[in-house]
Amino acid sequence: MIPSVLPTYSRAPLSFVKGEGSWLIEQDGRRFLDLGAGIAVNALGHAHPALVAALTEQAGQLWHTSNLYEIPQQQELADRLVALSFADTVFFTNSGTEACELAVKMARKYFYDMGQPDRTEIITFSGSFHGRSSAGIAAAGSEKMTKGFGPLLPGFKHIEFGDMEALGAAITDTTAAIMIEPVQGEGGIRPVPDADLKQMRALCETHGLLLIFDEVQCGVGRTGKMFAHEWAGVTPDIMMVAKGIGGGFPLGAVLATENAASGMTAGTHGSTYGGNPLGCAVGNAVVNIIGTDAFLEDV
Ligand SMILES: Cc1ncc(COP(=O)(O)O)c(C=O)c1O
Repeated sequence: MIPSVLPTYSRAPLSFVKGEGSWLIEQDGRRFLDLGAGIAVNALGHAHPALVAALTEQAGQLWHTSNLYEIPQQQELADRLVALSFADTVFFTNSGTEACELAVKMARKYFYDMGQPDRTEIITFSGSFHGRSSAGIAAAGSEKMTKGFGPLLPGFKHIEFGDMEALGAAITDTTAAIMIEPVQGEGGIRPVPDADLKQMRALCETHGLLLIFDEVQCGVGRTGKMFAHEWAGVTPDIMMVAKGIGGGFPLGAVLATENAASGMTAGTHGSTYGGNPLGCAVGNAVVNIIGTDAFLEDV
């Protein structure tokens, strides 16, 4: 008989009832040092007092209104992320997968509006992971994720991780973007060499492509910079963020330059929950701490 929870996960036989900083407490009282951090989510540990305060304070005021109205907490978080990054504008999601969806849509809309509607192809890399939506699995392209789920969203070309020659050769007049995790997460914590990120930026300049960084797992302070690509001294046009930005509250974001985001006008995209007051109150508390030099120097 199928379990009442859809059996898509193979779970460890552990059930945690409490978290304290870097520790998880199992229901039988055993304490575990939490090196997994909820798959790179609990960037400030469990039950961080500033996050608990932000969440409970906001929960007593207003949880949700929808994006039909102004959301001051969202505005504040967007302003902060813009100030802390290459980006001019931010869209909030509930997850990394949703951020991937928008990154793909944004890139395609950009070229559509430029009068190049055939320029839809996005180059991605072996070992990558961009989430479990139809676009996310098509982007990553591994058999493990895609088998049985066809027809896959078209428009992705997969290159061997690290093969810069193949990348150069793969670019055609239908290429829209290069999408890459500056440090592959699910692929085994594989950093992309700074020189390769620089070369990708240069290829994008030469061919008029958009550079998309997926910092869902490697971003938000995990490398000791607010965003991992800062080490290489290059910036993307579009970046996906999630996981750590909410410290455990489901929150994601797409950051983009004004140019890359130029096609995303009113009505072209949306989310019921993305960027709601509760999520953004927590996001602001996270960024208040992680987005400071003093914190990042200690990572
Ligand atoms: C690099 C990367 N992109 C996207 C995702 C998908 O994020 P989510 O699980 O929040 O949808 C993940 C999740 O592990 C990830 O590591």
